[in-house]
Amino acid sequence: MQINIDKVNSILEKYGVQKEALIPILQGIQAEYNYLPQEALILVSEALNIPLIDIVGVATFYKAFSLEPRGKHTITVCLGTACHVRGGPKIVEEFERNLGIKAGETTKDNEFSLETVNCLGCCAIGPVVVVDREYYAKMSIGKVKTILKRYKEKKRSRNEENK
Ligand code: FES
Repeated sequence: MQINIDKVNSILEKYGVQKEALIPILQGIQAEYNYLPQEALILVSEALNIPLIDIVGVATFYKAFSLEPRGKHTITVCLGTACHVRGGPKIVEEFERNLGIKAGETTKDNEFSLETVNCLGCCAIGPVVVVDREYYAKMSIGKVKTILKRYKEKKRSRNEENK
């Protein structure tokens, strides 16, 4: 991915070019690109004088960071026991079919990432799907297209605004 060096430098300046600012700097980069591009991490490594391997170690430790490109929307399907027995795996398959990707992947247009999780702590309303921070309770295969349509329409209106 082509990164904007000025943008990364402005994030560095914003949080201060010091080792203690590593986490906020990584958060700033993650917010900008939806993941941590390696080129940006190299710049951070040089600026803060921290070995790249240590930065990657921090990035892999925190779930909030991703070293792979992620979609604008993250769809998380619960496959914990309660959701599993109520059809969680079929819901994952339906999302996979509609998005043309497998769980753990991101669509080519960078709109959606699909993930699974073992229990979201709200088993009574399962099967549960979370898109970004929005919870969808008692999910069914039939609701998958409706949910995707909602987020695709958001993309369409974003594009309209940018015209
Ligand atoms: S198993 Fe899905 S929320 Fe607990």
